[in-house]
Amino acid sequence: MRINPETIERIKQAADIVEVVGDYVSLKKRGSNYQACCPFHNEKTPSFNVNPARQIFKCFGCGAAGDPIKFVMDIDGVGYGEALRYLANKYQIEIQEEEITDEQAMRQNERESLYIVLNFAKNFYQEHLHQTDEGRAIGLSYFRERGFNDPTLKKFELGYSPDIWDAFTQAALAKGYQAEILEKAGLLIHKEGSTTAGYDRFRGRVIFPIHNVAGKVIAFGARILKADKKQPKYINSPETAVYHKSDVLYGIYQAKNAIRQHDVCYLVEGYTDVISLHQAGIENVVASSGTSLTIEQIRLIGRFTPNVTILYDGDQAGIKAALRGLDMVLEEGLNVSIVTFPDNDDPDSYVQRVGAEAFKEYLRTSARDFISFKTDTLLREAGNDPFKRAEVISDVVNSITKIPDAIKRQVFFRRTAEMMKVDEQMLISEGNKLLRKQYEKPQKEPRRDAARPGTSARGTSGPSSLGLPTGVVPPEIPDDLFFDDSMMAPPGSAPTTGAPADDTPRRSKLYYQEEAFVRLLVLFGSYELEPDITVCAYVLSEIPGIDFTDPVFNHILTLFRENYSRSVQLSTDYFLHHREPEVRDLAIGWATYKHELSDLWTSKYEIYVPSEQDMLDKSSFKNILRLKKAFIEEKMNQCLERLKTIADPEEEAQCLKEFMEFKKISMAAARELGSVVG
Ligand code: UTP
Ligand code: MN
Repeated sequence: MRINPETIERIKQAADIVEVVGDYVSLKKRGSNYQACCPFHNEKTPSFNVNPARQIFKCFGCGAAGDPIKFVMDIDGVGYGEALRYLANKYQIEIQEEEITDEQAMRQNERESLYIVLNFAKNFYQEHLHQTDEGRAIGLSYFRERGFNDPTLKKFELGYSPDIWDAFTQAALAKGYQAEILEKAGLLIHKEGSTTAGYDRFRGRVIFPIHNVAGKVIAFGARILKADKKQPKYINSPETAVYHKSDVLYGIYQAKNAIRQHDVCYLVEGYTDVISLHQAGIENVVASSGTSLTIEQIRLIGRFTPNVTILYDGDQAGIKAALRGLDMVLEEGLNVSIVTFPDNDDPDSYVQRVGAEAFKEYLRTSARDFISFKTDTLLREAGNDPFKRAEVISDVVNSITKIPDAIKRQVFFRRTAEMMKVDEQMLISEGNKLLRKQYEKPQKEPRRDAARPGTSARGTSGPSSLGLPTGVVPPEIPDDLFFDDSMMAPPGSAPTTGAPADDTPRRSKLYYQEEAFVRLLVLFGSYELEPDITVCAYVLSEIPGIDFTDPVFNHILTLFRENYSRSVQLSTDYFLHHREPEVRDLAIGWATYKHELSDLWTSKYEIYVPSEQDMLDKSSFKNILRLKKAFIEEKMNQCLERLKTIADPEEEAQCLKEFMEFKKISMAAARELGSVVG
């Protein structure tokens, strides 16, 4: 159910960033702020800062940043509502739910009911494993045979479903749960037209409860114990209102802290691999359970670490097929490594055979990065056939171009060139060709930021939140190491939305100019330039009707416009605690670099950005005008560039018209500037 806005406001008021973070990390006071080693990435010297005055946290190492709610969301890997509930509980705030429609209430209640019966089922199966003769004789002895000890059984809440048609259903009905809910939870199978209540989905099997990231049981996997050729070895819950197979990773709840701690997530195939590794002390492990990896699962991992190591068992053909799916992981900005297992071993059997220490050593020594693993595997298969080798090159280059980080791409081009014994430059131009093709295709999703704090395009690559100490030039922006000159659009004409990949754009001057405007509004919007003329009012009046190319900047601009028209002045704080992470992260970045950013921009990008001092200065009007004039001139440049390529006369006329309008504005600005200066 939705928490009503008043309650959210009360939670925000009550939650103190130092207390909330302090529950998870030990903070040291440094001046008016607090410091710690960042809980979101591995580090030895603290770069994680908590600012009580602003009620925000920010890590200068990985870029994680936000308010108390964001902190809980990230550290626990939960959603907004869940984080609010946690804080409400911590601060003893009673949650008032929003008035909702009957249908919403029903859906909400249904989900709640599903959680309740699923939890009941989990307890039922656990009891039957430990407290019935059948459970102990069959289920428990099986788990023992597999080498699972008591703490392990408990940690994963393993159970046993008795070999009776409707043992669970009868117990649940007796408890007052409705057959309909049992069916919707995937626990009861009811054939249409049948007059009986139906029968249990899971019978005579050991049970593996599947938890969501917050630890609620949402489904079950169940393994048969008899050798019965007619029955599948494992069966799983069907899709339900609370179980979407493609969004779930088995073991994420038990693994999330270890994943964050070790900053790597091991991905295995099944339940027993996860459990055996846990018992061997390797807890940062999850399974995709039967499905090939989905984008949702990748993003789930990305909430906790950018590093994934995939532990493959199986034959070469299977591995080769699996490699195809992995470009998607690269695209999400994750670093992928691969470990394969010898002979007929899977991680479960291997760890049981060689023991925990040898297993860890094996992971350390055999993990290979995905790109060179792929190159190697495919090359070996291609042998000396030149055509096949050419195919391999284009396949691998294609994978490399998926990596959003330009520096990493370059490293991989070099390494791959060595492995293939070809010229690195050749691979790069091959990559550029591929990128150009993508670039020409209309972009469906121009902006796709990874979910993890600090791995988003904005989190690490924009000057808005450099994630670097002041004065350090951001690694990606100025000299893109990968694109050669033929790839670059002429200065000033680089399209912002159609850039090849989100993290790699040569961001145009226009982008930074738009950012400068939005930053001005967010940080200094309420400053009064003169009595009754705020920066916001002045800026908005200077760029009437002009939209920004960058969707997020334009979104913020629109927020200002709409609120201004209702005489509402949005504050910096409003943005620092904004619900949308893209907006909030930008604001935090700007607020943190309030003083330094403008110098960097001015020297590096030749963009004039008024500083705080400038804003308080008498010449503020002039400074905004200068920014505006440069911005409009950049728009004119873009028009000119566009004109070169336009074939359609109508479009051409339209473009010319735009140009003339910009020209007028720019001349007016120049005149004004002259008169102001004079
Ligand atoms: P295994 O076939 O090795 O299962 O599959 P197992 O339980 O370890 O059986 P034995 O003892 O080796 O014969 C490994 C993982 O693959 C998933 C399960 O998660 C299992 O833990 N799996 C396997 C399924 O989901 N469905 C299947 O039909 C088989
Ligand atoms: Mn097995």
